[in-house]
Amino acid sequence: MREISKISIPKDIEVEIAEIHDGIYRIAGFDNTFGITFNQFLIDDEKPMLIHTGPIGMYNKIEEKVKEVIPLEKLTYISFLHFESDEWGGMQFLDSANAKLVCSDLSSKLNLTGWYNIPVDHISFWENEILKTGKKSFRFIMTPHVHHWDSMMIFEENTKSLFSSDLFIQPGNNKPVTTENLSESMLTLYRGAGIFANEAPVRKTTERLQNLSPKMVFPMHGSCIDGSVFSKYTDTIMNNTFAYEGILLGQRVETVI
Ligand SMILES: [Fe+2]
Ligand SMILES: [Fe+2]
Repeated sequence: MREISKISIPKDIEVEIAEIHDGIYRIAGFDNTFGITFNQFLIDDEKPMLIHTGPIGMYNKIEEKVKEVIPLEKLTYISFLHFESDEWGGMQFLDSANAKLVCSDLSSKLNLTGWYNIPVDHISFWENEILKTGKKSFRFIMTPHVHHWDSMMIFEENTKSLFSSDLFIQPGNNKPVTTENLSESMLTLYRGAGIFANEAPVRKTTERLQNLSPKMVFPMHGSCIDGSVFSKYTDTIMNNTFAYEGILLGQRVETVI
């Protein structure tokens, strides 16, 4: 049995901000419990967007960093890529005057319309739909069963920026952008966390993402990946096993696969 008081809430994590490219900022804090960073991405445009809010315990520090770039009232879209507390536990951002929640159509149907005290006012997107925020143009890519069945990713077409959620993540407190091949540690993380039930949908999605030729990949944990080394990560996904084999967040369960 786990007592709630023994579960750490990441409220004392230091958070840093770095501009990655073209008005896209990474706001990241390293969590010792899980050994990963939680990354939020702020896209400064006529209608700014925040992708992921971080867990609720990190809210104040993330908010401070957002305000270094834009006044909070200017924040227009807050997007989460699947229903999990590190993706959008900081829903407090929705209190800012002009913020609207953005999610996948499945997140909308499964999670935003059936819970007590969950905001129902949101905009949902389906395969290949586009949201323009000024100079930037965000294409929505449905990625079912790449982690969760409501999962999606976002591709910003003008800067060729791929927001890949929990695909291509790496452990550790690494620098904002990497040109190194950290894909072996990515595999170790996936095998120890058990976030993918099966390799097949992940590989199908990876093929599609390769065809987009992103200039920069923005995973939710770890460094942003420079496009020049992206193929190292996709090759690793295509040629290795990494799906769930009975271990969830480092703990074994006796599930027979
Ligand atoms: Fe996740
Ligand atoms: Fe995540």
